[in-house]
Amino acid sequence: MGAMAVYSGSANEVLAQAIAARLELPLGARRLHRFPDGEINLQIEESIRGRDIYVIQSTAPPVNENLMELLVMLDAFHRGSATSVTAIVPYFGYARQEKKTTGREPITAKLVADLLTAAGADRVVSIDLHTPAIQGFFNIGMDHLTAVPLIVDYLRDRIGSDGVVVSPDVGRVKLADHFARVLELPLAIVHKNRIAADRVEARGLVGEVGGRVPIVIDDLISTGGTIAECVKMLIEYGAQPCAYVAATHGLLVGPACERLEIPEIAEVIVTDTVNLPPGRRPRNLRVLSVADLLAETIWRLHRNESISAMFAERAALHPV
Ligand code: R5P
Repeated sequence: MGAMAVYSGSANEVLAQAIAARLELPLGARRLHRFPDGEINLQIEESIRGRDIYVIQSTAPPVNENLMELLVMLDAFHRGSATSVTAIVPYFGYARQEKKTTGREPITAKLVADLLTAAGADRVVSIDLHTPAIQGFFNIGMDHLTAVPLIVDYLRDRIGSDGVVVSPDVGRVKLADHFARVLELPLAIVHKNRIAADRVEARGLVGEVGGRVPIVIDDLISTGGTIAECVKMLIEYGAQPCAYVAATHGLLVGPACERLEIPEIAEVIVTDTVNLPPGRRPRNLRVLSVADLLAETIWRLHRNESISAMFAERAALHPV
């Protein structure tokens, strides 16, 4: 087993510190600057020759800045003769552009996978990809982790038998169904229609929500439009006005705070795959940390131990 080193980009420094602390390692020293014209300047401050490198960087907002920073870092480690370079990308941006929905569109998730590979990644680790099939966009090692057990544990302690798990659109039905089964609660599904990038309308509901506490499950919350419309419809159909909302990735951009910080939402539960500055944290936000999950993953990768074994006891909670 060679020496390992953990580095952070600027997207998730708090999470990276927490991971490094659990691994009992300092974060690797690097200087990351912007030139006056915005170009990225990076200097790795110690030799990484012969080391196994783990770079932690979500491609969260500002997506393109963080993506480019990650690419620059991978290139530096690759050219610096690291033995292996693993990109730990807790939130994988552009994942919602994973297929063409009409002619003359890019498949940007595939482009990002190609860019990571071209820049020098030997392996990529991510959590709760918007579409698990994105794993197949990589021709290098790809480990797809899940924060579902973390969120389930949190919810289990708070939700009674009067809960109902809700999928806010048909795309999340399998995920919500997992939650419903492990929490032993009924499932309801909202039919959503997207009108614009930041506006949706809820058009119908399948299932019974009357008198129940809604637990709305999504993989990510961006502007909060999906969640706000979903909660509005649930209350119109008689659900209790104290919803729990849970998603692995809280991007919380644009009007998200005002849409989520409403009395009808008791709590918004996300993980720290995306670092949220104070201005993007609604008052009812609860952040669970994936630091343990990622530290153990890095440790297991480094020792060539199974990653799926981490979820073996809780196989039923693995994402669909
Ligand atoms: C859509 O398929 C996703 O799972 C999310 O529901 C959606 O991207 C969230 O976006 P927003 O919060 O802007 O409605």
